[in-house]
Amino acid sequence: MNLFEITHLTKVYRDRTVLSIDKLYLERERIYAVLGPNGAGKSTLLRILNLLVEPDSGDIKFVDGQLLKQGHKSYDMARRMCMVFQRPLMFSTSVYNNVAYGLRLRKLPHREIERRVSEAIDFVGMQDFINYPATKLSGGEMQRVALARALVLRPEVLLLDEPTANLDPHSVQVIEEIVRKHHQQFGTSVIMVTHNLFQAKRMADEVILLVGGEVVEKSNAEDFFNNPSNERSKAFLDGTMVY
Ligand SMILES: Nc1ncnc2c1ncn2[C@@H]1O[C@H](COP(=O)(O)OP(=O)(O)O)[C@@H](O)[C@H]1O
Ligand SMILES: [Mg+2]
Repeated sequence: MNLFEITHLTKVYRDRTVLSIDKLYLERERIYAVLGPNGAGKSTLLRILNLLVEPDSGDIKFVDGQLLKQGHKSYDMARRMCMVFQRPLMFSTSVYNNVAYGLRLRKLPHREIERRVSEAIDFVGMQDFINYPATKLSGGEMQRVALARALVLRPEVLLLDEPTANLDPHSVQVIEEIVRKHHQQFGTSVIMVTHNLFQAKRMADEVILLVGGEVVEKSNAEDFFNNPSNERSKAFLDGTMVY
């Protein structure tokens, strides 16, 4: 069974169709890079998958074939995914409390919260900062905490929207390593929007190129970068694409 099966999906904002995907199937336990120019609909797609935005038409089937939609059962499905954004929003409290937040909402026993929070903080290498005020951290450190806050919930799917766009090269590498390690250890499915083609090359099994709300190409990363099958992909990679 696939992770997502998207058919006839559209999203319209103010009479403008910003997303129109006829068919897109994503497999489980893979890393996908979603590429495309600004305004291509990448964030909209991620928000729809995460049930933050409702599409205007179309169906999305999630893992076991159930339809992904707002309302009925959506809460259960949304819990199986976590999204991390370009600019992490930290609560003005300690790193520990930031990471514990989601588990407290889920009303887990105190002991288990403690154990899982410290595991997650270790996982992202932030144990020295556990009592530190989160809002005082550097951008790279905050993004690690944002990842810990997501990973502590043990998501099956990680949705990452330009998670390293504002970070220096070392922090980029650290974040990539955390995501890769989680994927390898737990089989987490990853869908990552990025403008960094090197990152896509380093991380992705599969690439999806979105332009003007449409999927121009979906192929395995090696083929995409070495042997793109269509003109628009070539133009995008060359930097000669006209939008
Ligand atoms: N809430 C919204 N209201 C109106 N237009 C929106 C909204 N969100 C996104 N859009 C429009 O939809 C298009 C796709 O946006 P987005 O998914 O953010 O693109 P990307 O992430 O690829 O840069 C853009 O033209 C954007 O202006
Ligand atoms: Mg975006």
